Amino acid sequence: MKTLLVMDASPRKDAVSRQLTNRFIDRVSAKFPDVRIIHRDLGASPLEHIDDELIDALRREPETLSERQQAARQASDQMIAEMDDADAIVVGSPLHNFTITGALRTWIDHVARPGKTFGYDPETGPKGLLSDKPVYVLSARGGKYGDGSPEDPHPADFQSGYLRHIFGFMGLKDVRIIAANGMDMGPEPRAEGLAEAHAKIDEAVNALEAEAAAA
Ligand SMILES: Cc1cc2nc3c(=O)[nH]c(=O)nc-3n(C[C@H](O)[C@H](O)[C@H](O)COP(=O)(O)O)c2cc1C
Repeated sequence: MKTLLVMDASPRKDAVSRQLTNRFIDRVSAKFPDVRIIHRDLGASPLEHIDDELIDALRREPETLSERQQAARQASDQMIAEMDDADAIVVGSPLHNFTITGALRTWIDHVARPGKTFGYDPETGPKGLLSDKPVYVLSARGGKYGDGSPEDPHPADFQSGYLRHIFGFMGLKDVRIIAANGMDMGPEPRAEGLAEAHAKIDEAVNALEAEAAAA
């Protein structure tokens, strides 16, 4: 593990998902002391919502770009390069209104770019252009929605399936959901949900270490 991209998508400073991403970073740093962590705080520094001008910059090839368009394209190129550079990606993702936060959704609007992260073949359809690597989604939920597995989806969890689909659409097909359920259900369910998520994070990082040792 040389490079880990970590994104926090919670608008809250004292967020559960931030505790989870921090745990992931701590565990990875202990196992891989030379790891480079690229940290992008989408919650604290949200990107601009796309509008007519930004859609032109990010999804088309206008002859000239305004300053704002140039800046958005540059930032987008950089965020895509971060995904390219990383050996694994971690996303701290709160459940908001049964799906992802607005900040994460806006980041997706800035990085899901034709010709950059996805292509389209008229015969075979869409094709992801990023090279595959694990994406760990550390999902904090107020209530209980299962473990985000595709085999046993919860009907109100519109986060897990969506993230699996959109990352897969860009070529990142190995999306692993680690859920912290019951965060707003009182002390006991919260402690239980956190313990489960912590154990899964530790397990995931141990597996990364074992993979690296076997390579
Ligand atoms: C705007 C908003 C919408 C929320 N929607 C849901 C929801 O649909 N289902 C749920 O179980 N919890 C919901 N919650 C609770 C959060 O999922 C819960 O507090 C979680 O811990 C947030 O993650 P964070 O602590 O990382 O910010 C919502 C919270 C906020 C602020």
